[in-house]
Amino acid sequence: MRTEFDAYWMPFTANRQFKKAPRLLARAEGMHYYTPDGRKVLDGVAGLWCVNAGHARPRIVEAIRAQAGEMDYAPPFQMGHPKAFELAERLVQLTPPGLNRVFYTNSGSESVETALKMAIAYHRVRGEGQRTRLIGRERGYHGVNFGGISVGGIVANRRMFGTLLAGVDHIRHTHDPQRNAFSRGQPAHGAEFADDLERLIALHDASTIAAVIVEPVAGSTGVLIPPQGYLQRLREICDKHGILLIFDEVITGFGRLGTPFAAQRFGVTPDIMTVAKGITNGCVPMGAVFVKQEIHDTFMQGPEHLIEFFHGYTYSAHPLACAAGLGTLDTYAEEGLLERGSGELESYFENAVHSLKGLPRVIDIRNIGLVGAIELEPIPGEPAKRAFQVFLDCWERGVLIRTTGDTIALSPPLIIEKSQIDQIVDTLRGALQRAA
Ligand SMILES: Cc1ncc(COP(=O)(O)O)c(C=O)c1O
Repeated sequence: MRTEFDAYWMPFTANRQFKKAPRLLARAEGMHYYTPDGRKVLDGVAGLWCVNAGHARPRIVEAIRAQAGEMDYAPPFQMGHPKAFELAERLVQLTPPGLNRVFYTNSGSESVETALKMAIAYHRVRGEGQRTRLIGRERGYHGVNFGGISVGGIVANRRMFGTLLAGVDHIRHTHDPQRNAFSRGQPAHGAEFADDLERLIALHDASTIAAVIVEPVAGSTGVLIPPQGYLQRLREICDKHGILLIFDEVITGFGRLGTPFAAQRFGVTPDIMTVAKGITNGCVPMGAVFVKQEIHDTFMQGPEHLIEFFHGYTYSAHPLACAAGLGTLDTYAEEGLLERGSGELESYFENAVHSLKGLPRVIDIRNIGLVGAIELEPIPGEPAKRAFQVFLDCWERGVLIRTTGDTIALSPPLIIEKSQIDQIVDTLRGALQRAA
């Protein structure tokens, strides 16, 4: 017998389990979701790391509404519309110096594919066409398209899909619970993990390597914070060997770490930076790739009537997305949200999540900015089950969290109040006790 839930094959979801007991969201405002029967749920994860300004923010809603009536769609190939240029100018005010050219996409996955293609093409146009190899990192997440899963390092996202892209290799991940468990902020140990890049350079030769891509803070794998000095070291090695450094800032971008981008928080500027999610507060799909001007300018050669970079999407710079982006940047600026996750609020959040230390089965707690992670000891033979029980328990009690494997991740909207941090952590405390 078919039910109303059969037709929709849900992404990254345990479909059969979900459809037996569906969890539906019907409405959202500020820090909360509401279920179809009116139950209020505190959003501890900004939707999916994207609704950084909170839900249904008036400027964003109004911008989208007005744009839909004014111009629904404009072709982005060989044509433009004013908001696309205005948004780009506004965005590059926020990026680290030099990263001042923007290419639009519609998602984080598309941003990653775009960045990887740009890196390879860049070397080719500058006469080093043999630099085609891409280096990712174990446990990395760079979306779900073929380039992204090839440089990505999450086995479940890779093993079903054949041979992936050729010419990809991975440096080791930075997780080192033996030395770093329960670190507050950046762990003290592990800068030397960056030297693993030298190992791959010795194996493949730098002259074959186009780029290295990493998340400054690895999110989807369960929140891994870079050890002190690690990203600096990666930058130095890339510079030494002429390799481009790509930061995938799809979740760290737009204030998640208390600065506009992780690059500023860590004081390391990549050559290319991918973003999505918070660029429109999650309201209309959009992504972007920021590149250093020299990279952009390298493409600007040959006859002027010819296309310089054969890449783009039907919905690149979609008018609704650009309008949402402008409304989002206004909201961030007016409320100081891109800096709100630093200083006092960050300390409050840090103390709150670390107050869960000592609860049964809690084996590590990690935090930075408004990102927190609580790692649990798996149930023997049933990985991910204990954390998922905690997720369901919190949902029943009106708090939305997220889990990957046996790690609970928190990434609330940047408008969160201290009392709401308390509510999330108190709810978690109860759920962790029950799940032990
Ligand atoms: C670091 C990173 N890159 C890429 C992506 C993919 O983004 P999307 O789901 O918008 O394609 C994500 C999504 O969570 C991400 O965290």
